[in-house]
This record gives sequence, structure tokens and C-alpha cells, in this order.
Amino acid sequence: MSKQRFPLIAANWKMNLLRTEAEQLVASIVNNGPYNAEVAFAPPFLYIPRVGEIIESNSGFFLAAQNCSNHNFGAYTGEVAAAMLSDCKVSMVILGHSERRSIFNESDEWINKKLIAAIDHELIPILCCGEDLEQRNSNRHREVVGQQLERCLSGISADKLQKLVIAYEPVWAIGTGLTARPEQAQEMHAFIRSKLERFHPGPLASGTRILYGGSVKPQNAAELLECNDIDGALVGGASLNADDFTGILRAL
Ligand code: 13P
Repeated sequence: MSKQRFPLIAANWKMNLLRTEAEQLVASIVNNGPYNAEVAFAPPFLYIPRVGEIIESNSGFFLAAQNCSNHNFGAYTGEVAAAMLSDCKVSMVILGHSERRSIFNESDEWINKKLIAAIDHELIPILCCGEDLEQRNSNRHREVVGQQLERCLSGISADKLQKLVIAYEPVWAIGTGLTARPEQAQEMHAFIRSKLERFHPGPLASGTRILYGGSVKPQNAAELLECNDIDGALVGGASLNADDFTGILRAL
């Protein structure tokens, strides 16, 4: 069965690159397009306006942020509000990345509030979930991911989740060079879709894009992206190099 969902490949630069390197990277990827996917760049906040200028007139490219606050303006030193991102032409925001969960202690409840703030300001959330190695080895990966989704999506109506994107990123595969085997990833993506269907019976689950993240490279992208329930990728390390990132885009 062919997929009806249009693929999305998102570049999560994390805290990398200086400004001129960022400019060259985006220009090179944009100039090599178009691609058979939507392409999102999630640079550090400071570079968002500049990256926006470079992609501006090219359709199919989107600005994303790596995080946002759950608060709406006010005395929250160091935070960036969803309203500010929308106002700066950002269309997507990565939420609940495992690095935010483990290094900055973000809980599912907190991520739930960020999701609500993002949706209220018309941002498309890219909600990350995934188990760590110990949880995978003790066969608790489905339970862990199911619980993350249930808590992060709690109280949000299907209507508000129309544009939701989910990224399955097994923590043991992030930045390690270890990638989930296509059958392992497909199994989890199908599980995530079935959970969504359980939370919100109806068309939401079949229309939601579920990205895979964790050591995606040009060499393994095709076999992952051809799986039925894998609708794109959230790419870390390989998104910092134009050849590697375009290699992944060409794998589609
Ligand atoms: P790597 O592609 O470097 O494993 O990172 C994945 C990731 O965390 C994307 O959000």
C-alpha cells in the first residue's frame, strides 16, 4: 500500500555550528533541491531569522525550533515563547527531545503544557518519544513509549492534533551510530499509530506523520523510509553536513 502521508525530513542541529557555517549549510541544501519531501531546519534560536531569510522564497522548506516555553510572555529569563516563534515565521517546534528530558529534566506533564502552548500559537509540534537501552533490553519499550504519549497528549482534542508530528527516537540510537533495524522501527511506529488510534478513534492516526530519529545516515535512510509507518526522519549529526543531509533526502 502506498503511503498517503507526505514525508518530512527535519534537521535538528542541536547546539552546533557558527553563523557562517549555518548559512553555507542551508544555502547548499536549498540550492540542491527540490526534494520529494518537506524539509525543516531546526537551528539554534539565534540563527532562526537568518535561516528563514535563506529559505524564504523556496517552497517545501520550513523553519523549526528545538524547544519553546510553556509560558506566554513574562518574567521567564532565558525562555522563548511559542508566540515569538510564530511571529518569526517558525512553523514547527521539536518538543520533548530525549536530551531535554534527560539533561533539563523535562517531564511528560511539562511537555504536555508546551504542546498546548505550541498548538495555541499555530506551531506544528514534533513530539519526541523513545525508550533508553535499559528499557529496550528489559522489553519495556512499548510500555515506556505508550506512557510518554498518553501523558504528553493528555487532554488535547483530536481537532487540535490535526497537524501533530511524532518522532520516535530510541535513546540508544541517538548519536551512537546504532540505528534501530527497519523492522524494530516499523514495529514501534505501528505501535505508536495504534496508540493514537486508541486515544482518538477516527482519521487522526492514519494521517499523522511519524518520523524516525537515531543515527539516520544516507546509508540507512532508504531502508528505514520505505517502511509502511515511517513517514520521514529527524536527523541530528548527519544534518550538519550538506552531502549527508542531501543524501538522506535523495533516499526518498
Ligand atoms: P543523531 O542523528 O545524531 O543520532 O541524532 C538524532 C536526534 O537526536 C535528532 O533529534
